[in-house]
Amino acid sequence: MLEELKRFEAEVDTALKGVKDPEGLEQLRLRFLGRKGRINEFFKRLGRLPVEERPKVGKILNQLKARIESTIASRRSELKEQEVPRIDLTLPGRMGWVGHPNPLSLVIDEIIDFFVGLGFTVEFGPEIETDWYNFEALNIPPYHPSREMFSSFYLGDELLLRSHTSPVQIRVMERKGVPIRFIAPGPVYRVDKFDATHSPFFYQIEGLYVDQEVSFAELKGDLEAFAKHIFGESVRVRFFPSYFPFTEPSAEMSISCPICQGKGCRVCGDSGWLEILGCGMVHPNVFKSVGIDPDRYQGYAFGLGAERIAMIKYIIGDIRLFYENDFRFLDQFR
Ligand code: DAH
Repeated sequence: MLEELKRFEAEVDTALKGVKDPEGLEQLRLRFLGRKGRINEFFKRLGRLPVEERPKVGKILNQLKARIESTIASRRSELKEQEVPRIDLTLPGRMGWVGHPNPLSLVIDEIIDFFVGLGFTVEFGPEIETDWYNFEALNIPPYHPSREMFSSFYLGDELLLRSHTSPVQIRVMERKGVPIRFIAPGPVYRVDKFDATHSPFFYQIEGLYVDQEVSFAELKGDLEAFAKHIFGESVRVRFFPSYFPFTEPSAEMSISCPICQGKGCRVCGDSGWLEILGCGMVHPNVFKSVGIDPDRYQGYAFGLGAERIAMIKYIIGDIRLFYENDFRFLDQFR
């Protein structure tokens, strides 16, 4: 029987070494250690051995049993480590996150595209301005009451966060001279509440077109085409007299309310019209402040708030949504 046990031990070793998965290992465990397994068979036969041999063989059998048990245990943990995690190919994948422009950027880009199509370039100016560029060069002297409507955040006596993009008119005419035709998008700052319809910070787009024969008719034609480009062919425009220190004459342009087609609704306050920009013919004093002869050159200028255009176009009721980065809002413009 000792011979047999040796052979059995060798058989066990090769079998356990060769096993490849937990199921196979369990089968071997049953075969060797199960109730009807090989070890138990040997134990049964122990009774038939001569009495003096029993203790010795019994001891060997017990040791063998313990060794098989521990080998099985260590093989089990080895197999577990090698186990490849199962992948459920039917699960939906994790989508990669791809960013996209804020609706405000979409509208600004659309406006830029339109004016670039008319031959305008795109210019930029600093957000921190001097009193000269923000006011004086634009025909707004220190005592002038219209400073009130552009009041801003001051950084000392001379510097302020620009309250409009109009100072870019001065900077670009100084830098590039005339004739000139450009738009200037960018942020502006004013002392104001921060609620659904006000913000101390917003985006404007300035426009300036200066040449020797620029007329008010061109101003009207270009701005009407602009309105149709942004709000659709059926939109109508209306100009009415207004006042800006840097233009003469000055006007404001309204569009027929694109939501109710001018019939009157909550958005247009039942008037059927929405004001969208200020404009006019460049004031002679503005030309003088950059050394351009107002008898030789004329120009039109306009300024608009980009948020306002976007809010009308997409029917957005709260200006703060543009800045809050809430994906539930932004993802609607994907
Ligand atoms: N700068 C004006 C504002 O912030 C907007 C404006 C009106 C700009 C008329 C212009 C203009 O260039 O001609 O309210």
